[in-house]
Amino acid sequence: MNVGRRRVHLGVLFPVNPTTTVWKGGLPGSQIDFAAIAGLARTAQRGRFDYLLLADDLRLPERDGEVTEIGVAGRHDLLTIISAVAAVTDRLGLVATVNTTFNEPYDIARQLATVNHLSDGRVGWNAVTTSDAWIGQNFRRGGFLPHAQRYERAAEFVQLCRSIWRAGGTPDSVPLAHQGRHFHAEGHAATACDGIEPVLMQAGDSEQGREFAAAHAEVIYSRKKGRAGREFYADVKGRLARHGRDPGQLKIMPAITYVVGQSRADAEELARMRRLDIVTPEMAIYYLEELWGCDLSGYDPEGPLPDIDPDPDGSAFIAGRPTGADAQRRADRAAFLRQVAESRKLSIRQLVALVTDTKALAGTPADIATAMIEQVEADACDGYIIVPDQAPGGLDSFVEHVVPELQSRGVLPAEYESDTLRGNLGLPESTNRAR
Ligand SMILES: Cc1cc2nc3c(=O)[nH]c(=O)nc-3n(C[C@H](O)[C@H](O)[C@H](O)COP(=O)(O)O)c2cc1C
Repeated sequence: MNVGRRRVHLGVLFPVNPTTTVWKGGLPGSQIDFAAIAGLARTAQRGRFDYLLLADDLRLPERDGEVTEIGVAGRHDLLTIISAVAAVTDRLGLVATVNTTFNEPYDIARQLATVNHLSDGRVGWNAVTTSDAWIGQNFRRGGFLPHAQRYERAAEFVQLCRSIWRAGGTPDSVPLAHQGRHFHAEGHAATACDGIEPVLMQAGDSEQGREFAAAHAEVIYSRKKGRAGREFYADVKGRLARHGRDPGQLKIMPAITYVVGQSRADAEELARMRRLDIVTPEMAIYYLEELWGCDLSGYDPEGPLPDIDPDPDGSAFIAGRPTGADAQRRADRAAFLRQVAESRKLSIRQLVALVTDTKALAGTPADIATAMIEQVEADACDGYIIVPDQAPGGLDSFVEHVVPELQSRGVLPAEYESDTLRGNLGLPESTNRAR
C-alpha cells in the first residue's frame, strides 16, 4: 500500500431490485437460489471485498390489489442465509438487513451473536426502521410508530443489543438492567459476543436517520454521490464529535453501479444499452402507473406519455413502493416527466430509463478506479457498495479488471488484513465490555 493514500472500502449488494439489475434467465426464482448468493460471495471474497450486503423487504408490492410479476422473487430470512454463506467463505464480511420496528431486541441480539460466533466475527447488521404502515399490517401494527419514534426505538434497540452482547453468556454474566421507553430487560442474557461485536450499518437519510447514524452506526449505506455525497459526508462526520466519536469510526459507503468497456465511449454506449435492458416495456408502464395511480396497460411503452392526468385518488393503485403516497407529489412529478419527455422527444420507455438511471461509473478499468479514488480523496465517501447491473455474474468484470487497478494504486490491499469484518473496515476490534 502507498503511504498516505486513503483506503477504498468495498461492499457488494446482492441485487434483487429490478430497477437496478437484469437477471439473466429471467425471474423469479433465480434470485433466491443459494448458488447465486454463494457465487456472488465467492467472487467478492476473491476481489478482497470487505462485505456482502443483503437487503430486505417484509411485504411484496401490489398493483391494483394483486402481487405484480415485476421483481417478485420472495425473500428468505437473511440471518439464516448469512449463516449458510459463512460456511462457504472464510474472510468476507456478511451484512444482513434486520428491521428494528417489527422485531424484538433480545431475539435479534442473540441471532446476530450466534452468526457472528459461527463466522468468527464477520457479521454486520444493517439496522433499518422502514418508513411506512404498509409493512406494519403484516405484523398487525398498521401505522405502528410515527417516523421519529421509530428511530427512538431503533436507538434503544441497538443499545439493548449491545448490552446483551457485553453482559451475558458466561458464569460471571451480569444481569441486564434496562428500563427504557420501548423495552425492559432484567435477566442474565444467555448469549454474549466473544469480544467482537457485529458491525452496525445504517441506511436512511432523514434528520433522525443521520443522528441515529452519528450516535450508533459504524457504516452508512447511502445513495449520495458527487456534490451531494460531499455535503452528506461533511454533515454526518461533523456530528460525530458531539457523540464522543472519531470520524474514522464511521465509514460512509454509497451504492454505485459500474460498466467496464474497452474505451470510455464504448462503456458509455454499453451503459445506455444496459439501462434499456433493465427498463423493460412492462417496467416502464409500471413505473408510470405508480405516479399516475391508475391502469396504463393500454399505452404503448414505445410511444408518448399518457394524455390523461394522474388520478388524485390513486395513491394505492401501486402499493408498497416508496414514491407513490402523496397525490400532490405524484402530480408534480408527473408534470416534470411530461416536460422532460416533450422537450427531449422521448418515448415512455426512454424517459423511464433516463429518470431511473443510477449513473453508472462507465469507462475503462483505469477510468473507474480513478473516479472511485477521487471521490474518496474529496471526502465524499470512504468506499462503495457495488450494485451489479447484471446477475448472476455481474461482479466478475469488476473483480477481474477494476480490483487489480485499485490494488496497483495502493488503495486496496492485495490480501485481507484481518479475519474479522471490524478489522477489515479499520474499526476498533474489541469493544468496551461491561465487565
Ligand atoms: C440506501 C438505502 C437502503 C435501504 N435499504 C433498506 C432495506 O433493505 N430494507 C428496508 O426495510 N429498508 C431499507 N431502507 C429504508 C430505511 O431503513 C429507512 O426506513 C427509510 O429510509 C426511512 O428513513 P429515513 O426517513 O431516515 O430516510 C433503505 C434506505 C436507504 C437510504
